[in-house]
Amino acid sequence: MGKFEVLNHPLIQHKLTIIREKQCGTKVFREMVNEISTLMAYEVSRDMPLEDIEIETPICKTTQKTLAGKKVAIVPILRAGLGMVDGVLNMIPAAKVGHVGMYRDEKTLKPVEYFVKLPSDISQRQLFVVDPMLATGGSAIMAMDMLKKRGASNIKFMCLVAAPEGVKALQEAHPDIDIYTAALDDHLNEDGYIVPGLGDAGDRLFGTK
Ligand code: URA
Repeated sequence: MGKFEVLNHPLIQHKLTIIREKQCGTKVFREMVNEISTLMAYEVSRDMPLEDIEIETPICKTTQKTLAGKKVAIVPILRAGLGMVDGVLNMIPAAKVGHVGMYRDEKTLKPVEYFVKLPSDISQRQLFVVDPMLATGGSAIMAMDMLKKRGASNIKFMCLVAAPEGVKALQEAHPDIDIYTAALDDHLNEDGYIVPGLGDAGDRLFGTK
């Protein structure tokens, strides 16, 4: 089973509380999502492997540490995942960015993919899949299906708020994936919103509604 971690750093918790408040406007919401994503990326990258490298300082030759292992790609799930991309890039500026988009067919209620654009070397990369809300898990599960079908195997999922139902569903469908969230909330309501949550993350990020 992959990791499941609630990243409860005080700065993350404080900023999350700010965006939960319904009075928080688009500008601050966007800024806080960006900052939380940066802090989360710092925590999530804690286990990145290092290797030794020979360098020369102005004083002498020396052996020091440098990042080893797979290069990173960030994959936002459209649309709300876009709000987390710049924050992760603050920590991992050389990462490539792929996009996945899906919608729910109104008749069949099944998710349908409408957009996939990924770096060509996706199978060689460590993926950070980002979406602020892990609610039922339907979108995240389908995103993982889409990515694995195209060769991805090393995937970390990052969200701001998770519902227990979504965590369970994602873990059952994709037990190999590591899940990181800033908060594990109480439950989903009958409309599919996370309680207490923060409302519709996409609408709040982009000022639509
Ligand atoms: N998506 C959202 O944006 N918010 C929720 O609470 C659930 C799903």
